[in-house]
Amino acid sequence: MDEIKIFSPASVANISCGFDVLGFCLGPVGDEMIIRKSDSSGVKIIKIEGQELPLDVKKNVAGVAAEALLNELKTERGFEIEIYKNIKAGSGIGSSAASAAGAVFGINELLNKPFTAHELINFAMEGEGLASGSVHADNVAPVLLGGITLVRTTDPIDVVQLPTPKELTAVIMHPKIELKTVHAREIIKKNVTMEKAIQQWGNLGAFVSALYDEDYDLMSRSLKDEIVEPMRSLLIPEFESLKKASKDVGALGFGISGSGPSVYALTKGVDTAEKVYEAINEIISSIGIDFEIYISKINQQGIKILPD
Ligand code: HSE
Repeated sequence: MDEIKIFSPASVANISCGFDVLGFCLGPVGDEMIIRKSDSSGVKIIKIEGQELPLDVKKNVAGVAAEALLNELKTERGFEIEIYKNIKAGSGIGSSAASAAGAVFGINELLNKPFTAHELINFAMEGEGLASGSVHADNVAPVLLGGITLVRTTDPIDVVQLPTPKELTAVIMHPKIELKTVHAREIIKKNVTMEKAIQQWGNLGAFVSALYDEDYDLMSRSLKDEIVEPMRSLLIPEFESLKKASKDVGALGFGISGSGPSVYALTKGVDTAEKVYEAINEIISSIGIDFEIYISKINQQGIKILPD
């Protein structure tokens, strides 16, 4: 195989109680990429459509991630990358993660899989570091592994794949304003009180347990963020009214997707997701900003190979 075409999906990081550690993979939205072997060594990004992003491999998350993989192999092999972006940069649903994960997934396939999906997280994470100013794997892990993931540590990488309760459904709303992760990270206070830390790890542990037990009530009680949301939500139009309206019609939880400005709700079943969709749609339509909204099951497969 000399060339591969892939679909690299969007993802939701943090899931409220798991800042920088929890994430899940989305279904309908994602980037397409073509990766092919080339005669010259190293990585070249030869085309990007859908977004203004640098072709320079050192300044592009896909390039940085791909070079990290090739450096580890100490190979002279070369690859060309074409990126067709559907996920807007700065939208909060893992745009940079999709590019970084897509590049390393594609190259790994063309090299007959020298690395496992878990190992690929290391390289994709280096691309993420370029985009956000610090290394975190809560978007690239669910993209590469599928489903819901927990990053226990990034050094060394240690990622746990969590079960997805059958009826768990997500609603995502992207208000079309750009919020760069690097800025959304700068506004977070660097110190956390013991009281807030206790609340947060209580919620995180309970949420993980609820996933195993398919305990939707416990999920609902645990989907809270006492630490980051109070600061970042101020940057998102109508955040509190969107949250209240979603919870009023039965959302298990509502919060910021990654570093925002997208927001997510989780529901038990598609019927409730449709009610949440309507409630969010009504509020956001009334304030005159462009947005998109969709319902997604949790994508169990993650990144995938497309037919030619
Ligand atoms: N955990 C990251 C954050 C995800 O919230 O900053 C965004 O890339």
